[in-house]
Amino acid sequence: MNLERFPRHSLTFGPSPIQPLKRLSAHLGGEVELYAKREDCNSGLAFGGNKTRKLEYLIPQALAEGCDTLVSIGGVQSNQTRQVAAVAAHLGLKCVLVQEHWVEHNDAVCDRVGNIQMSRILGADVRLDPAGFDIGIRPSWEEALADVRRAGGKPFPIPAGCSEHPLGGLGYVGFAEEVRAQEAALGFKFDYIVVCSVTGSTQAGMVVGFAADGRADRVIGIDASGTPEQTHAQILRIAQSTAKLVELGREIRAEDVVLDTRYAAPAYGLPSEDTLEAIRLCARQEGMLTDPVYEGKSMHGMIDKVRRGEFPAGSKVLYAHLGGVPALNAYSFIFRNG
Ligand SMILES: Cc1ncc(COP(=O)(O)O)c(C=O)c1O
Repeated sequence: MNLERFPRHSLTFGPSPIQPLKRLSAHLGGEVELYAKREDCNSGLAFGGNKTRKLEYLIPQALAEGCDTLVSIGGVQSNQTRQVAAVAAHLGLKCVLVQEHWVEHNDAVCDRVGNIQMSRILGADVRLDPAGFDIGIRPSWEEALADVRRAGGKPFPIPAGCSEHPLGGLGYVGFAEEVRAQEAALGFKFDYIVVCSVTGSTQAGMVVGFAADGRADRVIGIDASGTPEQTHAQILRIAQSTAKLVELGREIRAEDVVLDTRYAAPAYGLPSEDTLEAIRLCARQEGMLTDPVYEGKSMHGMIDKVRRGEFPAGSKVLYAHLGGVPALNAYSFIFRNG
């Protein structure tokens, strides 16, 4: 595998820490050892998260092409757009963000707090758009790019979740390499890696990275999109193209992409009672916060799989905490009593 040939612009603190979740593991019976890799605090740029790691491989291209404006898209409470806004500010670039109405969630201050608030403070040109949820390429985004060009600027397009960008999978190939180095220091290997999936390039990168040591299907994706067929197809396609890019030396097949579809209900961006129970349980056992859109769903998936005995006794499970906590602010009504 050859990741080194791709330039990387450092935006993170370095390897993100791996932390044992001792109380949560014990609470769930103690037969499975849970750990978290803290991608949610991987950077000082507006808290970081999984997109910050992906952007490390996209930014060299933006700089080499002389782009002056990062253009990106997401939902109103998108974590991606907040991270793009922070990276743009850090690099002295302009930033245009299209924020669509992906979620039928209408907390009174939904479009004022959390991620979108931070993006505005970071100086991004934030444009609200009424379009609904779709992880594909959107007309509103094409329009934002055209606007920058018309004004004489040079846009660098960063699609939703960085996923449709050809280099979008590289960051999480690097994550697998990083985990291998941390495993060598810890003196053991993880049996499973649990990851939340929506636009797909996080899991796709991990599948390629862990395929290098035979663990592709030990990456357990938890779907939070509510459109799992589209997400599975997108993970597979990105994993296949990323495998070619890094010269993995073997094909990625459909069975390498494991996506558990039981935890996305009721819809993208909306938590179920079980999602909320998982968020509260993890917070109260570990002091670790997760959000109702993404990580609360993968936390629910991991907890439920432990309870059902789906991880064999003695397994070591690594929960990839990908960020997303700022969105909690937009769900204040749900948590008004804790
Ligand atoms: C906090 C968080 N977790 C998980 C994901 C899912 O990652 P991906 O879109 O690469 O599947 C995202 C972004 O979509 C996210 O912001």
